Amino acid sequence: MNIQSYLDSQRTRVDGFLEKVFLGNTLEPSVLYQSMRYSLLAGGKRIRPVLTIAAAQALGYDKDDMLPLAAALEFVHTYSLIHDDLPAMDDDDYRRGRLTNHKVYGEGMAILAGDGLLTMAFELCSLKENDVSFSYQQQLAIVRELAQGSGHQGMVGGQVMDIQAENQDIELSHLQRIHAYKTGRLIRAAVRIGGIIGEATPTQLECLSGYAEDIGLAFQVADDVLNMVGTREELGKNAGTDEKRGKKTYPTFLGVEGARQFGEQCVDRAIARLSEFGPSADPLRHIAIYIMARRT
Ligand code: IPE
Ligand code: IPE
Ligand code: MG
Ligand code: MG
Repeated sequence: MNIQSYLDSQRTRVDGFLEKVFLGNTLEPSVLYQSMRYSLLAGGKRIRPVLTIAAAQALGYDKDDMLPLAAALEFVHTYSLIHDDLPAMDDDDYRRGRLTNHKVYGEGMAILAGDGLLTMAFELCSLKENDVSFSYQQQLAIVRELAQGSGHQGMVGGQVMDIQAENQDIELSHLQRIHAYKTGRLIRAAVRIGGIIGEATPTQLECLSGYAEDIGLAFQVADDVLNMVGTREELGKNAGTDEKRGKKTYPTFLGVEGARQFGEQCVDRAIARLSEFGPSADPLRHIAIYIMARRT
């Protein structure tokens, strides 16, 4: 399969939904919506919602009523980026090819835009029964996955560990733990939510979780490598920032080539976890390869 055209078409599908959510919105306070929209619709690979869709497709489900659920992951992810870029955190000036949210709207508004996106994600997951084909039981399980992937034992917990590790002499095993939480858990939630949408059996959900943990690690390893070798033009955000902030990353420990090889091993492991799935899981397999091959 041509993974680039698959990613393009699924991203367009997600973007269509994201734009619709805000279209014709004349609610007050308007600056809040402007600021939320500024970061959400700035582009971005949409890899988390696409993973939700690809996991559901692996189980034979492909209806558009999953789009609000897939989009919810992008809302949480975008909020995490806005907060990650704040002066109190990574203090970054560029994201998704434009100035960071706080550079345009100020820190207070950036914090609140993040809060607005996070809470709206859960609103998107609370669907009216008539609009969708998912049971309340499925919806509750999805809300739980999203909360767990985002929160204290998920992305937020990982970001705390990440801050604590700045300028510290940490070991590789601890770095792996930070990555598993700050990036891995939300990616795991994205894939598992697709699994729940597609009514995965417990065994299938287990395989999908293992796949997600492996690609989650590979995803952050690739982010670390790109931070070292990429350019602002390619990445849409400043490169070389990890070293400047005293952050130990996979390339610090293994070198760029070693980190790449480690990422490739994660990708191979991820693909092997899908051995019980047929061709319907090909998008998931190709996404795993794309994650290490990407330049953005
Ligand atoms: C960047 O995420 C931050 C990490 C968790 C590594 P992405 O690389 O998915 O960023 P966008 O969404 O494409 O901008
Ligand atoms: C971001 O990690 C993880 C989040 C939870 C947002 P990084 O700080 O390493 O990602 P970039 O390089 O700013 O995108
Ligand atoms: Mg960070
Ligand atoms: Mg950052």
